[in-house]
Amino acid sequence: DRPTLTVQQLGGRIGARIDGVRLGGDLPDSTVAAVREALLRHKVLFFRGQDHLEDEQHLAFAERFGPLTTAHPTVNTGSARVLRVTANKGMAANAWHTDVTFVDRVPAISVLRGVVIPPYGGNTVWANTVAAYEAMPGPLKALVDDLWAVHTNSYDYAQRDEENEQPDANYTRDDFASQLFETRHPVVRVHPETGERSLVLGNFVKAFDGFNSSESTALYHLLQNRITRLENTIRWTWQHGDVAMWDNRATQHYAVADFGSEPREMRRITVAGDVPVSIDG
Ligand code: SIN
Repeated sequence: DRPTLTVQQLGGRIGARIDGVRLGGDLPDSTVAAVREALLRHKVLFFRGQDHLEDEQHLAFAERFGPLTTAHPTVNTGSARVLRVTANKGMAANAWHTDVTFVDRVPAISVLRGVVIPPYGGNTVWANTVAAYEAMPGPLKALVDDLWAVHTNSYDYAQRDEENEQPDANYTRDDFASQLFETRHPVVRVHPETGERSLVLGNFVKAFDGFNSSESTALYHLLQNRITRLENTIRWTWQHGDVAMWDNRATQHYAVADFGSEPREMRRITVAGDVPVSIDG
């Protein structure tokens, strides 16, 4: 008999722990549907004790939620679909971001597995970008509802090819071949599955349409400060065998770089997403 899946809410606005599931590609459709429902509601899910997972099962599990996207548009990962996140390769993700917003079709879901966990530190924190929007006062909502932002990976942890510095407008390809990306997204998107309004911001934002660079910086901090209020967040202390799965259309996250020179390795697989749609359609 399969153990029954349980969902334990961890934070008031974001995060739940799922027990009773052994992750892999062979889960019954009903379990996949229950996980998806929990993900849409809680935005980030945590699974413990998944020590059996290797890349192959990790890929097969993620693929149950939709077609996979490339491991990363610019980082040479040595694998088409699996991104290795290791701090010592200059890839520490210690800035608030939504994954890969600098392409037009932002990944829908990310599935991250802890492979090497440092003896201390190295937590990851997620923030709910739907709750942040909902908590805004009316005049601020009115401003962001009509606002667009330019996202670029020029601040990314990716190692860029310095000889290929031209932004590539041709980023709709799935097999990204260029190094520098720039695209515009509405600051408020309508979530394609829940219909909720969510803020599309984070570390890849370079400027807002109609605002100069210093105004953009001030506005960016105003909005980001609202997203990252502690009430909107959940912080996870990793153990070996843990998996975190987040709705990349409704969250930002931050990997805390407080583990000195201790080794830390995570592996991330991303499910392809849509072009964010503004509230005007
Ligand atoms: C990421 O940004 O996807 C990686 C998060 C982490 O290393 O905890």
